[in-house]
Amino acid sequence: MMIETDNVKIGGLNKLKYAIIGYPVAHSLSPEMHEAGFKTAGIDATYERITIHPLELTAGISDLKANHFNGFNVTYPLKEKIIPFLDGLTSEAQAIGAVNTVKIENGLLYGHNTDGQGFVEALRRQDFDFNSKKVVILGAGGAAKAIAVSLACLNVYLLILNRTSEKAAALAEQVNLLGGKASGDILAPGTWLESVDLLVQTTSVGMKSEPYLFDLQGINPAAWAVDLIYNPAVTSLLSNAALHGCRTFNGLDMLLFQGVLAWDFWFGVKAPVDSMRKALVDKLSVCSE
Ligand SMILES: NC(=O)c1ccc[n+]([C@@H]2O[C@H](COP(=O)([O-])OP(=O)(O)OC[C@H]3O[C@@H](n4cnc5c(N)ncnc54)[C@H](OP(=O)(O)O)[C@@H]3O)[C@@H](O)[C@H]2O)c1
Repeated sequence: MMIETDNVKIGGLNKLKYAIIGYPVAHSLSPEMHEAGFKTAGIDATYERITIHPLELTAGISDLKANHFNGFNVTYPLKEKIIPFLDGLTSEAQAIGAVNTVKIENGLLYGHNTDGQGFVEALRRQDFDFNSKKVVILGAGGAAKAIAVSLACLNVYLLILNRTSEKAAALAEQVNLLGGKASGDILAPGTWLESVDLLVQTTSVGMKSEPYLFDLQGINPAAWAVDLIYNPAVTSLLSNAALHGCRTFNGLDMLLFQGVLAWDFWFGVKAPVDSMRKALVDKLSVCSE
């Protein structure tokens, strides 16, 4: 494989440089995932973790440019803060108002967001058909926003529930402006449980293996339940959903496919999904030992 970018060739003489930036980034699994992909695809590239404090973003971006990075991923808390530093945004990044993937070409920075499409792709690979489905999103933070915007054009009925109900209402309004069908409300159990087809848990509740905020008693047993958290692999919400008969997934495949879609943006080539997934699974099994 030999693909031309501005001044380098994938697998050519120049080593490509990628990174993940955030604060903190020590926990990120992206380096293992992308390095495994580079190795399988024969791309001569490195991928580093780079900690950048939000107040030092100006200097951090200058360093990335000066050190000839070809691109990077962006994680908490920089996904929105990075936008003023970018020279261009894809329509997805613009609609979501946040960036998780940046490409550097001729010294210019282009931002994209693959989080929402990564979620959609992860479910499509499991043969989930979104058409006319009732989707309930628990939470209205950054991840929920990326997913809701990606679902806006998929002919789903979206209910967004959040502790701060104003944020749920604002996100629903944004989805409707994009042509979707959404409403927002306070995060609580309700009659929605009986008719939901896809439940998407996007709050940070469960990261410390704590019990979820409510029981899913009465949930449609044919519903699929996804928790964006992947460590722990089974949150209390997922075990509760399984108890009620639902098919369950954690956030590992969303993480995988946001990375896979970053390859389309960086290289314009298909990523080696299997080796990237194996790297994630291997790293997580070490982390949970
Ligand atoms: N699998 C993946 O690839 C992937 C990608 C991105 C994120 N994630 C995971 O998704 C989760 C959210 O990330 P984010 O970036 O969206 O975070 P965020 O922007 O900070 O949003 C956090 C959300 O959680 C809600 N929340 C927090 N504590 C709560 C509590 N005690 N009770 C009820 N609601 C609570 C917040 O509600 P309020 O608005 O009321 O504060 C908000 O809706 C994290 O666990 C993150 O690791 C996974």
